[in-house]
Amino acid sequence: MVGTGVFAEILDGDVYKYYGDGEWKKCASGKSVAIINPTTRKTQYKVQACSQEEVNKVMEIAKAAQKSWAKTPLWKRAELLHKAAAILKEHKFPIAECLVKEIAKPAKDSVTEVVRSGDLVSYCAEEGVRILGEGKFLVSDSFPGNERTKYCLTSKIPLGVVLAIPPFNYPVNLAVSKIAPALIAGNSLVLKPPTQGAVSCLHMVHCFHLAGFPKGLINCVTGKGSEIGDFLTMHPGVNCISFTGGDTGIAISKKAGMIPLQMELGGKDACIVLEDADLDLVASNIIKGGFSYSGQRCTAVKVVLVMESVADALVEKVKAKVAKLTVGPPEEDSDITPVVSESSANFIEGLVKDAKEKGATFCQPYKREGNLIWPLLLDHVRPDMRIAWEEPFGPVLPVIRINSVEEGIHHCNASNFGLQGCVFTRDINKAMLISDAMETGTVQINSAPARGPDHFPFQGIKDSGIGSQGITNSINMMTKIKSTVINLPTPTYTTG
Ligand code: G3P
Repeated sequence: MVGTGVFAEILDGDVYKYYGDGEWKKCASGKSVAIINPTTRKTQYKVQACSQEEVNKVMEIAKAAQKSWAKTPLWKRAELLHKAAAILKEHKFPIAECLVKEIAKPAKDSVTEVVRSGDLVSYCAEEGVRILGEGKFLVSDSFPGNERTKYCLTSKIPLGVVLAIPPFNYPVNLAVSKIAPALIAGNSLVLKPPTQGAVSCLHMVHCFHLAGFPKGLINCVTGKGSEIGDFLTMHPGVNCISFTGGDTGIAISKKAGMIPLQMELGGKDACIVLEDADLDLVASNIIKGGFSYSGQRCTAVKVVLVMESVADALVEKVKAKVAKLTVGPPEEDSDITPVVSESSANFIEGLVKDAKEKGATFCQPYKREGNLIWPLLLDHVRPDMRIAWEEPFGPVLPVIRINSVEEGIHHCNASNFGLQGCVFTRDINKAMLISDAMETGTVQINSAPARGPDHFPFQGIKDSGIGSQGITNSINMMTKIKSTVINLPTPTYTTG
């Protein structure tokens, strides 16, 4: 159960504690931040409002803990991660319950998120022992003018303290996708969860605590972004930032110091549909890609660009499937659940109103109750409508009819975003040409965009982000190359 049993120590009265120096703590000010349940729109949980002073303390602790963690054998780091993964999976139901209450994620998807996170942690431990267990050996005589007098040995060393900031839509999975690579690579960690999702994060962190990681290695501070947000991201003790979220990431990247950044900041993923596409396959992928978790995924299909000749048929098929989506509370495992906040629902409504004024065709009537917005397909969307470019992060999907493949590629590439995209066609040669032409980090052929499986590289270009994620890339990103060069008095040759 949430906040009970093994989780009892993370709760004080009705306020969840923060985690520093291997202990669950209350902030000195006694202030808290309320977490609003998107479904009831009432306070569900409260977390500590940490101060800048408390952040400073945690940073110091993380810095000290990292020094001895870097000396901990790789196999031992992996062993602890495997243990944490097992504990996380063992407690999938209480953590999933937090997800349901804090971010209105459908019940089954919430359980899947926790299990997927445990798998990610285990995979990361295994990948880490492989890729961190080997380095490079270079000899000098391959470069012009050199004899074989220098042997260069390279290895990967930790960066120091990693600041991890996950988003509300995957507060557990996108937290562990930062935590596990950071730890296996020998870094320590300061985690700042999103407000909606903070209690899920705290429960997840407790699983790492129960696994027995050294004190101070993992720390988790909660609080108001206005009080500790900039303070954390500009803190001199931070050696790397891994952030997933909205355009706040652009501001963070401008303010952060000279440290490695990993950022994923959303997308406007286009789905290009050619005349020869399997329209049933397209329709089911549009439903899965556009409406799962009510469209609140960076990789959701956010605009359909369909050839005019098949547009009527496709829209009819998608309409029929939209009619079957269940709408309601996450506890009932509804397909469409309330969006995360009232301000998010208002933003989505603004995009819908703009499309209405400018003449889009509504395939369903627009309906909203509180934060719950019924799924909506907008046909005949034109480039002058905001919904053609902006990401609603909600269950509203625009369809733009195109007359040529070039028109589709042009629309995709005119976006500020470049996370993923997809193309549906039976012609693999055309698919490859289109994939090459689309300015996005990933192109899916004949499937909706998606980040997983979690070991695949995941990256955006333009405003969609900096760097590449996925387990291997994240481990590498959270390390630095260190070289040791052995200088020999005379050239040596192994043969001859
Ligand atoms: O919105 C976060 C982004 O990483 C999406 O992940 O697994 O839904 O494709 P996924």
